Amino acid sequence: MKLFDVYPINPINIVRGQGSLVYDAQDNEYLDMYGGHAVISIGHTHPHYVKRLEDQLHQLGFYSNSIEIPIQKELASKLGKVSGKEDYQLFMCNSGAEANENALKLASFYNGKKKVIAFTKAFHGRTSLAVAVTDNPKIVAPINETDNVIFLPWADEAALTQAFADNEISSVIIEGIQGVGGIQVAPESFLQKIRSLCDEHNAVFIADSVQCGYGRTGKFFSQDFAGIDADIYSMAKGMGNGFPVGGIIISPKIQPAYGMLGTTFGGNHLACAAGLAVLEVMEQDNLMQNAATIGEYLIKELKKLEQVKEVRGRGLMIGIELPEELAHARKELLFKHRIFTGEAKPNVVRLLPALNLTKAHADRFLEAFVDVLNQ
Ligand SMILES: Cc1ncc(COP(=O)(O)O)c(C=O)c1O
Repeated sequence: MKLFDVYPINPINIVRGQGSLVYDAQDNEYLDMYGGHAVISIGHTHPHYVKRLEDQLHQLGFYSNSIEIPIQKELASKLGKVSGKEDYQLFMCNSGAEANENALKLASFYNGKKKVIAFTKAFHGRTSLAVAVTDNPKIVAPINETDNVIFLPWADEAALTQAFADNEISSVIIEGIQGVGGIQVAPESFLQKIRSLCDEHNAVFIADSVQCGYGRTGKFFSQDFAGIDADIYSMAKGMGNGFPVGGIIISPKIQPAYGMLGTTFGGNHLACAAGLAVLEVMEQDNLMQNAATIGEYLIKELKKLEQVKEVRGRGLMIGIELPEELAHARKELLFKHRIFTGEAKPNVVRLLPALNLTKAHADRFLEAFVDVLNQ
């Protein structure tokens, strides 16, 4: 059987990793400034993570949500503490798209309304509702098309206010920093406006934190910079450091009912062990602070480079916009300097490394980047 060929891939076979370094089958070393697409939050094969998963696997890998799973409560309690949202409720699933799918559905259960506001260049996933609120017609199949989604221009307060006028809005979904959209930071005043309009119209504010959340920006949720609380935060990627786990945390104003949401695999014992290991390391090693410090350093240094058009982002979620003639920079970084980075169109290099990236590794990247720009 062949693989279904949907990914344009690089001819590199990564076989092991440690911290922010990964190695191919020939034992060549690569610096991972991409984190496997923002997934590796505490570094590859972190010893505490490996041990926690290994210990859990020896005890029990899986049993269904029809029994008590104390490790889920342990994870919820730790997540409440680390995120500062202790009065929220956790529902676990397996991916970012699924988290958003559940968030949008829950919002509609809550207020009985159907319309969703999403924004240009948004990416929220590939399942049916998640892709319907994603602004990329190429990945929306005819079956996913719906009249329930209203796309508005990014950060346009007047358009937002106007869209609320008929009082049909169930929810607003927004990334605190657009990832796929090219690292665009949502203005704080815009997030505050969403908050006040949602309050006024009994709509649900969904903060897609799949990429920009989980400490990556130096705060647990990037929306925290605006001093507001969303009603639902969706999470995945960094939550499991590579173990597939996602979830939503839900404001106390939204009450659960049996059967409202459900999943076979979500919240399984192994996923919870992975999630707890991540939070324990984040807390113990002060990783949010490290993300803020190293991120600030990288942004400051990148802004000094005259060939760079713009540097955007917060903490360790950074977009470097390059002119067209430097479009080859990512490939050069990978094949000449063995450094993984992410991309966003057009010509944006995305940095999404592990939150414990060291200053030495940040410098190694900067040196290579300067070399690539000057070729
Ligand atoms: C902001 C955002 N939301 C949702 C998703 C979808 O997550 P997943 O690929 O885990 O379904 C992504 C993935 O890149 C994302 O960046």
